[in-house]
Amino acid sequence: RRLTVPAIRRRKGPDAEPLVMLTAYTVRTAQLLDPHCDMLLVGDSLGQVIYGLPSTVPVTLEMMAAHGAAVVRGSHHAVVVIDMPFGSYEASPQQAFESAATLLKQTGAAAVKLEGGEAMAPTVRFLSERGIPVMGHVGLTPQAVNVLGGYGARGKSDAEAAKIVADATAIADAGAFAIVIEGVMEPIAIRITEEVACPTIGIGASARCDGQVLVAEDMLGLFERTARFVKRYDDMAGRISAAAEAYAGEVRARSFPGPDQIYPSKP
Ligand code: KIV
Ligand code: NA
Repeated sequence: RRLTVPAIRRRKGPDAEPLVMLTAYTVRTAQLLDPHCDMLLVGDSLGQVIYGLPSTVPVTLEMMAAHGAAVVRGSHHAVVVIDMPFGSYEASPQQAFESAATLLKQTGAAAVKLEGGEAMAPTVRFLSERGIPVMGHVGLTPQAVNVLGGYGARGKSDAEAAKIVADATAIADAGAFAIVIEGVMEPIAIRITEEVACPTIGIGASARCDGQVLVAEDMLGLFERTARFVKRYDDMAGRISAAAEAYAGEVRARSFPGPDQIYPSKP
């Protein structure tokens, strides 16, 4: 049976088992990650990771729905959370509800994630009170790259740190069932984790968050970009290159296909 949002919401505090989340965009990846994860995030990072876009800004609702449906089909244990793409939710709570409802109806996912703090709190409340669980995302919010000017860590000044804590508190008080904290000075992540009632999910944040998330392609060593907060658990890029090189060599040497890969004529 699939985990539920309320079960995730209860995993709070130093005595709770930390929440495990990875991104998944495709059915096979979802199948492989699902047994090990509490949540699978269909992140809008798919814009860069699988479409080669320069940022998450151009990602569309249609892209998120297509990949979200694949990830739901490939999983039966983890809660599937889908990122709301830039431009699909910021204008009003009503716009956000229509976009989020479309995502849940077209995919079967249980929850959405959106970026932002105090300005998004009324939207988080609007959705939560109308049957759509919302995960927040504060600190380094990649959809705001054109305002932030880059992907550097946030909260280096006292004022910025206080703003990030206020953002997280506002989202939590509005009913978010969990909050991603990305790319902040560690004391900010610890303070938010201690102050808000819902679980915090860190990425470039702190081991004291209530859970952690990474982009699967990053931790697998498949994507070329590396941030300080990515730990590589594999070198899939190297292994894929080696496999392609071996195949190319065998094709050019006419040693592939071999006897096991052809249909010989009947004796
Ligand atoms: O899009 C994404 O992959 C994310 C995670 C990094 C939290 O938002
Ligand atoms: Na995202």
